[in-house]
Amino acid sequence: MASPSAILDAPWLFPARAKLVKDFFFQSNIRSNTGLPVPVVAVGKLNYPDLAEAALRDGMCDMIMLARPLLADPYWPQKAFSGRTSEIAPCIGDQEACINEFIHGGHLQCAVNPRAGFEDAMEAEPAIASRLKKVAVVGAGPAGVICACTAAKRGHEVTIFERFERAGGCLIPGMALKIKFDLANYADYLNSELQRTAEKYPLIIRFKTEMTAEALKEGKFEAIVISAGAKPFSPPVEGINLPHVVQAIDLFRNPSLADKANKVVVIGGGSGGCEAAYFLSWEKGKEVIVIEMLPYFMKDLCTANRGYMIHFLEQKGVKLLNCTQLKAMDEKGVLVIRNLSPTVPDPYVTWEPVLPENIENPLAKPIRVKEEEMRLEADLVVLATGYIPDDSLYEQCLKERISPEIYNIGDSFSRGGQGWICHRKNTLSTLAFRLSRPLFWRTIQKNLFRLY
Ligand SMILES: Cc1cc2nc3c(=O)[nH]c(=O)nc-3n(C[C@H](O)[C@H](O)[C@H](O)COP(=O)(O)O)c2cc1C
Ligand code: SF4
Repeated sequence: MASPSAILDAPWLFPARAKLVKDFFFQSNIRSNTGLPVPVVAVGKLNYPDLAEAALRDGMCDMIMLARPLLADPYWPQKAFSGRTSEIAPCIGDQEACINEFIHGGHLQCAVNPRAGFEDAMEAEPAIASRLKKVAVVGAGPAGVICACTAAKRGHEVTIFERFERAGGCLIPGMALKIKFDLANYADYLNSELQRTAEKYPLIIRFKTEMTAEALKEGKFEAIVISAGAKPFSPPVEGINLPHVVQAIDLFRNPSLADKANKVVVIGGGSGGCEAAYFLSWEKGKEVIVIEMLPYFMKDLCTANRGYMIHFLEQKGVKLLNCTQLKAMDEKGVLVIRNLSPTVPDPYVTWEPVLPENIENPLAKPIRVKEEEMRLEADLVVLATGYIPDDSLYEQCLKERISPEIYNIGDSFSRGGQGWICHRKNTLSTLAFRLSRPLFWRTIQKNLFRLY
């Protein structure tokens, strides 16, 4: 678990701020009531042990404090102390479960730690199951990996299948952006956790193996867990099959798709679309426009993450067009219908919306409609129009009753997240809300309990 150099240069680096305070206190001879120097504590994204240690060693601060890293892994200090840093489940900085959960009226959770906030219901160490089974887990994204490792630790004989050469699922394309180094770190953790578990428990890892219902049937598994993830949604509009129209996930998997393009239009201003715009403008030097049919970009994202992203996009001159709907695409660009009413919110203002969607704002001004058709030039169109559960294998397994127990977890159960970009949820009800938690811990937990 190494800290990337990008983080050391970050303007928000907290040890640097701590050092400023420490120097100021020293130069101004500011002391505590007892006459001793005031200890200065550095806090903020110090989940990389080498970074935290360097802050202390280099005299940037007197102590370090961890908040989110301890939600992600309460054993961080023990693991760091004993040099087992690859075993630390790392905080990915998404703020979805620890901060946004409060905003939406829930309680503290963590996107990478299923036990955080549910310590009363889940044991720290999973107990051996009363009846041991032969289990298949299909898909090694975060949900599949955690499920497979937990089931193996409970004594089940588990095989996990993954069509790519490593675990991580949609984290892998998501970490294409340099600023998403936290996701790369998390993917490393998932892979090392699989290897560690396989060394000690009955877990077999089968990478580069695409499973079908027939192959699963032949395996005679007593329980099958499908964690096949989600697939990108393509809106049914004219021009969708043109060669210069690509999905954001494909662009992240294969950035050379953007090599020949100068002007890019991104369809969809959720976090996926905005991160594609960030990637194209900051890392690829393209001229980028993002269209979003809703009044706000990334409206469900945690305010801090959203604010940074909007400022970064503004800094690179990315045009954010809200209240703008896709009508059609052709070889030369995109046809949209845009609401040009002055009541449409300024997309670069980051403190709006003031309240989350589930709380009505009685002072909110209505948005009037003054629509106009517009053409936007583009030699590349990137679709970021959401994801739908990839549940076809699950449905087929169910239909053919290939095993006595068949479960569907993670994004293939309910696409509540933007997964590799950040995470999202719906607000239909508390249950739906919980089921669509970032990594669907509740579904995983529920199924694991049944599996046990
Ligand atoms: C769930 C949660 C609650 C927090 N509550 C407070 C708070 O009440 N007051 C405060 O000053 N900071 C609060 N913070 C901020 C943390 O103290 C800390 O400064 C911040 O999370 C950055 O450190 P980290 O990267 O180690 O998480 C909170 C953070 C989290 C995740
Ligand atoms: S929810 Fe995300 S940001 Fe919050 S502690 Fe967990 S991994 Fe970190």
